[in-house]
Order: sequence, then structure tokens, then C-alpha cells
Amino acid sequence: MRSHGCGDLRSEASGQVVRLSGWVDRSRDHGGLIFIDLRDRSGTVQITVDPDLGAEAFPVAEHLRNETVIQVTGRVRVRPDESVNTKLVTGAVEVLASAITVLNSVKGTLPFQVSVHEDETVREELRLRHRYLDLRRERMNGNLRLRARTIQAARRFLEDQGFIEVETPVLTRSTPEGARDYLVPSRVCGGEWFALPQSPQLFKQLLMVGGIERYYQVARCFRDEDLRADRQPEFTQLDIEMSFMGQEEILELNEALIATIWKAVKGVELPRPFPRLSWHEAMERYGTDRPDTRYGMELTNVSDLVAGMGFKVFSGAVAAGGSVKCIAVPGGNEALSNVRIKPGGDVFSEAQAAGAGGLAFIRVREGGEIDTIGAIKDNLSATTKADLLQRTGAVPGTLLLFGAGDTATVNKALDRVRQFLARELKLVPPERGNATWNFLWVVDFPMFEFNAGENRLEALHHPFCAPNTDDLGSDPAQWAATLPTARAQAYDLVLNGLELGGGSLRIHDSALQRQVLQTIGLPPEEGERQFGFLMEALDMGAPPHGGLAFGIDRMVMLLAGEESIRDTIAFPKTQQARCLLTQAPADVAPQQLEDLHVASTWVDDSMG
Ligand code: AMO
Repeated sequence: MRSHGCGDLRSEASGQVVRLSGWVDRSRDHGGLIFIDLRDRSGTVQITVDPDLGAEAFPVAEHLRNETVIQVTGRVRVRPDESVNTKLVTGAVEVLASAITVLNSVKGTLPFQVSVHEDETVREELRLRHRYLDLRRERMNGNLRLRARTIQAARRFLEDQGFIEVETPVLTRSTPEGARDYLVPSRVCGGEWFALPQSPQLFKQLLMVGGIERYYQVARCFRDEDLRADRQPEFTQLDIEMSFMGQEEILELNEALIATIWKAVKGVELPRPFPRLSWHEAMERYGTDRPDTRYGMELTNVSDLVAGMGFKVFSGAVAAGGSVKCIAVPGGNEALSNVRIKPGGDVFSEAQAAGAGGLAFIRVREGGEIDTIGAIKDNLSATTKADLLQRTGAVPGTLLLFGAGDTATVNKALDRVRQFLARELKLVPPERGNATWNFLWVVDFPMFEFNAGENRLEALHHPFCAPNTDDLGSDPAQWAATLPTARAQAYDLVLNGLELGGGSLRIHDSALQRQVLQTIGLPPEEGERQFGFLMEALDMGAPPHGGLAFGIDRMVMLLAGEESIRDTIAFPKTQQARCLLTQAPADVAPQQLEDLHVASTWVDDSMG
């Protein structure tokens, strides 16, 4: 059906008769001559239809609507200098059509224009409803190609290193990664349910027990959780596991993998090794375990300086076991008015959305003078003031923003304010074009965090991470006491403030695994019921092993300079976890439910 791709034609082809097939990107009638931009996956080329030289083609060309699928036969010719289109790689040539065949026409109205010449801003709802048209557009088409190149580079690297891809089940039992499961009823085993995997975690560990040693998988994962720009209910992991390697070797290998992908896809040489930060330090300096290190404005802990102050908001927070921390905003005096920091202001609202009651502030003036609300000023001694300015590095013009309260809330609020201000003050380099790639390993996570709602400890990553042996002690009798505060041998890879991947060394001792399950509140019988198969496998010669998983959708989003992972997935779901194209989820026939032994208790409120 075609001799060439549209985007492949250059002046060397001049004089050749070619056959092209593709879509009408747009067409223009220039008083007797018709110009068609013909598009296929290789690019676009101009077709010229001259009634005198293409008598057969002209009447067809006269009625072509955008996005009609056509086949064109014609002769390539070099365009005169003045009509060369420098914006097109094929801009030096055109194809003089002798025949045009319509392969399929567009019936009805196009919901939006595909052509890149048209305005890019089409409502996302419309794009998702007609995703096939959206995929024809340069942006999405480019993103899917970039995604394929990313996965290809990863596969090549891993296979060269002796990894093999193994598929793991999608119909399985619950794999706890902290989200809700998608469940599938079993028809054959009435009343029982499969869960779709939140990740292949347990299977990849079993593959290590199975002697695979180096496993990877481009794995689909399912999590029923609240959706955001960087979260989808089904998403793809580059999932990796290896045996007989320590944390250092695992991090090194994965840095090499990431560097290979960035080189292949972006052509950039990433500086290595990537910086590292302990979880504790990340929380202290940035208030988050995935800090964006492309800009400064780090958090400074001033609890000790203000603990004895008469200003109760500060001293009270410290007395209650919390913290007072502060961000020094360079040039903040000028950029941020009091109105923005006080209730109702946008900076205030950011802190409030993270659970903080508000933000105290100090404006540093010339000569070290300060401006602030009376209550702070009246209670600030000259030494405390001097210490504050010194510790925060404040200079005239700096605005100091304070969070006071329980440490977790202070961290959350200041992290949010810091990110907001970085965008407001344009401290973040552009995502598209000259992006900056700030990779960071966050290491030494705690094993557990306290879930106040359920009044129990829960695993910070998942309950299969190995604890740091220094924190654990060698005597199993101590484990119940040492585990709750132990660090995990776990690590996350953060890129520009986004968690790109995470993993850990795993527990390969069944007794320790049992103890961890007990620590998160699973009674022994329940632990056995859910994870007995794992413990049994660990007792049959499980090698030391560990690994990690990267979020491919997120990786591609950053590589493509997109702001949502929806733009990196061919057929994504909306924020309401719906597919607008197929209208899934949808109801099913009562007979299907009966076959599955499922009774629905759903009541449709909208029916009144
Ligand atoms: P984790 O839960 O951290 O680890 O997931 C690994 C990476 O997957 C991506 N990710 C998501 N991407 C899009 N939508 C989501 N809903 C979503 N959830 C997670 C993130 C994240 O860093 N089994 C462990 C890995 C291991 O220990 O080896 C795991 O799944 O980029």
C-alpha cells in the first residue's frame, strides 16, 4: 500500500514515483491548486494537486476532510526555494499527485482536530473519550514512542546483566502494599476471591527461592487508592529482584540502569553516584521523604532556640514534644505580602491544607532589624534573635516562615509551603526543554510507622523488608523489643521531588518474618494463614535477596516533561477511576453475578 513513509522523503527522492498512505492532516485550496499535508507515523509531507497534471486526483482532493485516510500516487519534486517549509523535515520536497484513493472517510464531525496546527488545548475528558484520535496527535504519539524506548533501554540493560523476564500471576491473593485490593470473584470456588496484585512482591521473592537469581518484569500492578496526577489504579512497574547482592551493589546496578535509560532516551550523561540522604535527614531538612533538591529553602529546626521563649505558640509546641521549624525565603519580604501569609492568604492556605493552624513570620530588615507580629517581637531576646538569624542564614530581605506544633504536621505543612513557594518564586527549572535531573537515594527508612487511626504499627514500605542488623541485635529473643524502632534496609529513588522507585533487602529468615508480621499486629495464626506459604518457602533454602521497583509511568512522565501520568498511558482512567472510552466499569447481567455467587448490595441513590 505504500512505497515510502511520508516523513522519509527528501530531495534525493526527486523524480521518483512514490505511493503513500496516511491521514489528511489538513488541506488548503489555493485558487486552482490544492495542498494536502499527508501524515503517517513517520511524519508529514505536502501533496500538491494540480488539475492540469493530475486530472484524476483533483476531483477527489476537492472534497477531502481532515483525518480522511487516503492513498496517494505521485512524483516527488523539489520545491522552489521560496516555498521550502523549514519547519518540516520533508519541507524541501512535495509530491505531485497523479491519483488519490480514499481508503476510509470521516463520517460525522470530529470531536477535535488532530492536526498539530490546531490549538493544543482540548479538554482532557474529550481526549480520553476519543483516545484513538488523541493518540494520533504528535504529543501523545511521541509520548508512547518515548515510553517504548524507555522500556526497551531498560530491557536491554537488564538482559545484558543476566536478568530474565518472568511473568507472575495477575489472579492471585492479596499482596500488601498499603492500598485497597481490586477483587475478582471465583466462579469455580464459590464465595472465594482473587485479588489483583498491588505488585509482584511475593512472587519475585519466591522466584529467588526458585533459583532465578536475577529477575525483572514489566509488570502491571493494581491499587484501589485515591487517584492523583501521579497515580493510576493500574500502572506499570519495572520490577527487579536479585539474590546474593548487598544494598550497595543493588543501588549501584540500578544507578547504572537509570543512567543507561537517560542516555538512550534523553542523550544525557547523568552524574554518578547519585547523592544519598537518610530518611531521618530528609525529614529534618525537607519535611518529606521525597525532597525536591532542585532548589534550596531547606527547613531549619529552631526548637532549641525558641523553647524558652514567652511566645507560647513556639514554647508550647516544644514543651509538648513537638517542633518549631522554619523556612528562610530569600527575597520573601518583597515577594510575599502579609496578606498572603495571614488567614485567607494563599501561602496560609497551603499550610492549612497540610493540617497546620497557621504560619508565624519574621521579616528581616536592613541592619538585622526585624518586623513581625507583636507577640513574637515582645518575647524575642537579642541573643535568640541573633541565633535565629545566624542559624537560618537570613539576610536583609529574607522572610522567615515558622511552623510550630507536632513534628509530623510541621514537616507536612512546611514541605507543602516550600514546594508552593518554589513554584511561585520560579525557583523550579522548566520541565520541558532544559530540565534538571536531581536524583536522590533516600535510605535508612524506619521499618514501621504508627497508624494512629488503627492504633498499631504498620510497615512503612511493606512487611517483607529486612531490618538493619545493627538495630536488631543477634539474639532472636530481643527482636520483639528491638524491631519497632529499627531501621529497614530500604531505599527509595527520588527524582525532582517525585518517588520514582523503591525497594529493600528482604527478610530471608522465617522466624524474623513471623516477628515482623506480629509487630504489625497480625496474630500468629493470621500471619500463618496469609503468609504461611512464604514462611515455608523461606525455610527451604531461601538465598539472601533484595530488589526494587520503578514506576514506569512516572519515569516516562518526567522524561516527557508531562505533568500527569495519564499522558504516558495509552488508555488511562480518570480521577474517578473510569475509562471514558469504553465506559468501564459498567454493570453486568444478573446471571453473571449469580454464576459468580455474588449478591449486589449496591443502591443507586441517583434514582431517588
Ligand atoms: P512501591 O509501592 O513503592 O513498591 O511501588 C514502586 C513504584 O511504583 C510506582 N507507583 C505508582 N505509579 C502509578 N500509580 C500508582 N498508583 C503507583 N503506586 C506506586 C511508584 C513507586 O515508587 N513491591 C515494592 C517494590 C519492592 O520492594 O521491590 C513496591 O511495589 O513510582
